[in-house]
Amino acid sequence: MPHNSHKIAVIPGDGIGPEITNVAFEILQHVAKKNSVTYIERVFPFGGNHYLLTGETLSQESIEELKKYDAIFMGAIGSPKIKTGILEKGILLNIRLSLDLYINYRPVKLYPGVDTPIKDKTPSDIDFVVIRENTGGMYSGVGGVSMKGTLDEVAINTKVYNYKQVSRCIRYAFKIAQSRPRKLIALIGKTNILTYVFDLWERVFKEIGEKEFPEIKREYYNVDAACMHIIKSPEKFDVIVTSNTFGDIITEIGAVIQGGIEMAASSNLNPEKTTPSMFAPVSSSALDITAQNKANPIAAIISMKMMLAFLGEHNAADDIEKALQKVTPMNLDRMSTKEIAKAFMNGL
Ligand code: IPM
Ligand code: MN
Repeated sequence: MPHNSHKIAVIPGDGIGPEITNVAFEILQHVAKKNSVTYIERVFPFGGNHYLLTGETLSQESIEELKKYDAIFMGAIGSPKIKTGILEKGILLNIRLSLDLYINYRPVKLYPGVDTPIKDKTPSDIDFVVIRENTGGMYSGVGGVSMKGTLDEVAINTKVYNYKQVSRCIRYAFKIAQSRPRKLIALIGKTNILTYVFDLWERVFKEIGEKEFPEIKREYYNVDAACMHIIKSPEKFDVIVTSNTFGDIITEIGAVIQGGIEMAASSNLNPEKTTPSMFAPVSSSALDITAQNKANPIAAIISMKMMLAFLGEHNAADDIEKALQKVTPMNLDRMSTKEIAKAFMNGL
């Protein structure tokens, strides 16, 4: 096998997941051929349906199996028949934590021709990335409940961060800022109230910035103010670095201003590449439009582009970016999944 053959684990999942994954892989096939990229793929059944059939969310053995791959591509996961939290924790968080995918990289980019609800803003105003810490904070699972169901019930979910988690995330975000022309980074936190956790973030941000990235301009926003600025003046932002929960929330605002959840892509990264990173649209499984040829596959296509770039296949990734620039002005809202896929293939 040629040395550049990438092993890709595919988890199409539920709802529209398989449809949009198919489009992304059709495109992969095309750009791979054109750029002499070789890969092998294996499809895994994990998701809501698999859980209902087998009782498995994602076993330790399956995790070990996934570790043999270079990347994971996921469509969407979710089922209304399953109690909320089971698939989220059993599959998504399990993959993030077991594979130590400590960065959640989410581009917020308005493509040409895509409508943003923010008046008078154009693609040159909306083009930033959110680096969301992906293993800690309120997602650590630290907490508990006592006296459940009584008037004295106590429920605790705690925001937990250690120096290692904070510093590796911040250092990665600075590196991304360094690779972009504006040399600008914003930390989003809540130093006025969460004085322990964000004191740690703020100190590490300053320390790493001063010592290792003196050419990068640093800014700080409290999360509430940031929500306002991102909507009013998205052009203020280039790289945002923030905690797990704040990143979760901010990227939903990001999704709206970049034209909707179907434009929002994400990658869950282990930057050292000691484990496979995972690429997936932010979108939900959208069961209401499943198998009706209605799903917009753009977020899956952007996720595919990010996967190729992360695997070092920059020419193939650039081909996808160029085709995106041609296709997004085409009024995608009126097009079916297959029409979008076809327009895309023609643009490649
Ligand atoms: C996301 C999702 C997940 C998260 C859920 C499904 C666990 O909202 O990827 O943003 O909260 O991280
Ligand atoms: Mn989310």
